[in-house]
Formats: sequence, structure tokens, C-alpha cells
Amino acid sequence: MDTVVSGIRSTGNLHLGNYFGAIKNFLRMQKENNCYFFIADYHALTTHPKPADLHGNIKQVLAEYLACGIDPDAATVFIQSDVPEVSELYLLLNMNAYVGELERTASFKEKIRKQPDNINAALLTYPVLMAADIIIHKANKVPVGKDQEQHLEMTRKFARRFNMMYEVNYFPEPDAYNFGQQLVKIPGLDGSGKMGKSEGNGIFLSDTPQEIKKKVMRAVTDTGPTTPGQELSEPVKNLFTIMNVVSDQDTVKFFADKYASCEIRYGDMKKQLAEDIIKFTEPIRIRINDILSDNKYLSKVVAEGAEKARASASKTVREVREIIGYRPF
Ligand code: TYM
Repeated sequence: MDTVVSGIRSTGNLHLGNYFGAIKNFLRMQKENNCYFFIADYHALTTHPKPADLHGNIKQVLAEYLACGIDPDAATVFIQSDVPEVSELYLLLNMNAYVGELERTASFKEKIRKQPDNINAALLTYPVLMAADIIIHKANKVPVGKDQEQHLEMTRKFARRFNMMYEVNYFPEPDAYNFGQQLVKIPGLDGSGKMGKSEGNGIFLSDTPQEIKKKVMRAVTDTGPTTPGQELSEPVKNLFTIMNVVSDQDTVKFFADKYASCEIRYGDMKKQLAEDIIKFTEPIRIRINDILSDNKYLSKVVAEGAEKARASASKTVREVREIIGYRPF
């Protein structure tokens, strides 16, 4: 049995990238493994959400998580800030994380570009907090999308460094995990890059059918192939990537053949894609709304999750303190 940890920031509604990059794998793992799935609401603070919005954001993401099928009876579902032990491990790990390596992290460089007015210290140490989230439960598998690969490499490095520094074999080195397959990157509808929460290029699990149709029909394409077998442009390749995860394989083949013979009509392809996305998201959207209105259920889930997560986290922190050399008087 593996120990599995993964999290999602509470900075916006969940989109198809979150689902196919991470959640789909959680769902496949939750029954047979010791799984911890959490809402990363400390990580969400790096973008300075308003206090009035913080709780609502967490609640929304929690309801969406559950609506996807994450089962709190099978897995431990919790809120990061309900487990303060993680901040102690974060502090301890920060002692052995070097500024140079943190500055070289791709996500930090991207944040510098995106939010030049808010380059706070927590952005720099973001991978350390993420490592703490993972190793505090001594996880060995972490189902995440491609964009988190470097953070997982750093997590392994921090775990290994701790073990070497204190000459112990305490923390396992966890792997980014996708059932032996490449990690997934779901692109956005704007022609380049990945689907993101704040990029304005996403399809959210909570979008209405009308919103989905509108977004898909507006997706960037090109002027169409002119020679048989022509290579796909990036925006069109992206549409096929999304189609590949939501549509059946006959549909994908139908449009791929049409493309290859230069007969494709992007309007038809988009209509089909929108229909298939709606077929996938609509049952989830309905469940999100049901769950959101059941506050009693949500509070029960987080209270039980916090208790289980704290039991595991406090054991680790106690042992880590001992390894480091803290002793009772
Ligand atoms: P976040 O909230 O950005 O994304 C949550 C999960 O969704 C995946 N994902 C994608 N996968 C494929 N294609 C996309 N376009 C796409 N967009 C997002 C992410 O890879 C991720 O698996 N730092 C993390 C949250 C976190 C965490 C952790 C994850 C904090 N601590 C510990 C795992 C373990 C993040 O910002 O994810």
C-alpha cells in the first residue's frame, strides 16, 4: 500500500486541467492506498486574497473536490491550515533549503514576471512548503500534473538532504505519479500554454453549458490545413489534446482524419468538443451545487479530515524534532 499526498490551491474554481492532471489519478488511488488530499490554502495566500473571500474560496474548492468523487470515507480530505504542524516542518526544512536553488525554480521565475509588485518571501519558499505538505505524511506517491514536476524533484532533494544531514533513513523520496505514464499538461483555449485558474483560458467544472459553448466556440484555431498530412499548429493541437481526454476515441479519429485530408471544419469540431465537455462536466456541476448547500456535511468532512491529518503530521514532527536534537528537560 502506498501513501499518497496531493493538494490543490484554493485560488479559483477547478478546471479541466486540475481534473485530468491530478484529480483523475486521485480517484484511481483512493480506495487502495493511504491517501491524503488537501486544499492548499496557505499556498493560496501568496497572491493576497481578501479576507472576505478566503473562506468562500476554500469552501468552493472543497465542494468541487468532493463533487469529482473524492471520497472522505476512503481518503483523508483536509484543509492545509487546519494542520499547523505543516508550518513547523516548513520552518525546519527552510533551514536546509538554499536561496540559490529556490531562485532557480521555474515557478518562482514565472511569478516574478506575473506579479512583479508582490514578490514575497513565501513565493521563494513555495517549494519548501509543498515538500513539507508531502513528507509530513511520509508519502511516496504524489499524483500531480506536469507543471508540478520540478517541485517534486525539489521535494525529493529536501527529503534526501534531511536524511543525509542527520544520518537517518527517515523520509521516503516521493515521486510525481501518473500510473507509469507521462505527467499530463492540459492546454488552454487561447492557443498556447497550459490551462490555468487565472489565465482566462480555462473551462471550469462549475461552468454552465452556455458558458462552455461560448468559450469553446471562441477557442483559437488557424486558417485550416492546405496540404494533406500537414503538421498541426499549436492551437489546433491543443484542441485535439482536450478532445482526447473528454471525447471517445472514434470522435478524435474522425476529426483527425478530416484534418489529414484537409476537410476539417473547425466549427464542427468545436461544437462536438463543447458537447463532450458538457457531458463530462454537467453531472459534476450539479453535485457541486448540492454539496455547497450542505454545510453540515462539509464541516463534518473537514473536522474528521483535520483530525486524521493531524495525527499523522504530529507524529512526524515529533520524530523530526527528536532527530534534529530537541530533547525534553
Ligand atoms: P494547483 O492548484 O495549481 O493545481 C492543482 C493540480 O492540478 C494540476 N494542474 C494541471 N495538470 C495538467 N494540466 C494543467 N493545465 C494543470 N493545471 C493544474 C497541478 O499539476 C496540480 O496537480 N503547488 C500545487 C498545490 C500543492 C501541492 C502540494 C500539490 C501544494 N502542496 C503537495 C501536491 C502535493 C499547485 O499549485 O497546484
